[in-house]
Amino acid sequence: MAEEKKLFKVKIDNISVEVEPGTTILNAARQIGGDVVPPAMCYYSKLQGSGGKCRTCLVKVTKGSDADPRPMPKLVASCRTTVMDGMEVGNITSPEVQDARKGVVEFLLLNHPLDCPVCDQAGECDLQNLSYEHGAEATRYEFKRRTFDKIDIGDKIQLHMTRCILCYRCVFTADQLTEKREHGILGRGDASEISTYIHQSLDNNFIGNVIDVCPVGALTDKTFRFKNRVWFLKPVDAHRHCEDPKCCGKTVLWMRGDEVFRVTARKDKYGEVEDFICDTCRFDKKEKSDWIIEGPRKIDRHSVISQGHYVNTVKPKDPLVEVLDGRQPKLLFDIHTTSEVNRPEIDLSKIDGPAHSDDFNK
Ligand code: SF4
Ligand code: FES
Repeated sequence: MAEEKKLFKVKIDNISVEVEPGTTILNAARQIGGDVVPPAMCYYSKLQGSGGKCRTCLVKVTKGSDADPRPMPKLVASCRTTVMDGMEVGNITSPEVQDARKGVVEFLLLNHPLDCPVCDQAGECDLQNLSYEHGAEATRYEFKRRTFDKIDIGDKIQLHMTRCILCYRCVFTADQLTEKREHGILGRGDASEISTYIHQSLDNNFIGNVIDVCPVGALTDKTFRFKNRVWFLKPVDAHRHCEDPKCCGKTVLWMRGDEVFRVTARKDKYGEVEDFICDTCRFDKKEKSDWIIEGPRKIDRHSVISQGHYVNTVKPKDPLVEVLDGRQPKLLFDIHTTSEVNRPEIDLSKIDGPAHSDDFNK
């Protein structure tokens, strides 16, 4: 008879869970779920070797194991530390951990440009969320922030090196998913940067996934850049039969009306991609007719993305149309003015429905 696998009993924030030997503290916490799960900015369960870079997942081991109950002397990275039988861990119950996390966030933000108002990642940025939860309201840093020479890494992906937190996720993605890796981290210490070394573009069929794995706005989609804010768009699940056998063809379309603004992979509750998608699905299939729409994507209700999406609401009657004898108010106002941003040949007063990004200059 097969021997029954022995499970390790672990307590995280006084909640017990039994996990297989070799499980990390972070993954044990994910089995419990909820607030006890430490944040992770560099660990990514689908990428081998990830973790151990950002220190946001630090926890306190108050009891090493049943065999050796001594606490660990320092806080440990939960994404890289495996559990022992009888281990006890403090995360949200440990003031020391909360204080250290606040310090880590302050460090991550030291050189960050804080340009959320113009960053395409705003609203779905792990660093933004983390700083809301654990950040100090002001910085103590008095020196000049790091700057980098701008490099062009191709027509689909935009690199903003000043926003990068050097988590290495994109490097592992390029290494493990694409056929040839063209970028990596160059330089050391303060001068480390994501680069292609001799400026060249990233153009493998799966390289677009670096956009999805990047926890900040350092790598963004050039085909979506500045076109809309994510909280104005409606995410819907969709799929298509993709010819690339490595691509699952299951995506999220970010739509406004019938216009598909961008296509991303589907992400789980920890912000990790469920299944990677190819660049053809991501960048070249921007028509609604390219996709079979499954329905609205479920978004965490605390996310800013869900703020504009009301369900089961009754639209109030518009009294203006009644007063105007059924005439549409928009026909009474001339909202069209010509400026640098709109195309003069398109009269914004006369188009059907909301304006489309094609109605404006690129
Ligand atoms: S560009 Fe993004 S994914 Fe790549 S190392 Fe920087 S923060 Fe991480
Ligand atoms: S998630 Fe553990 S060190 Fe970054």
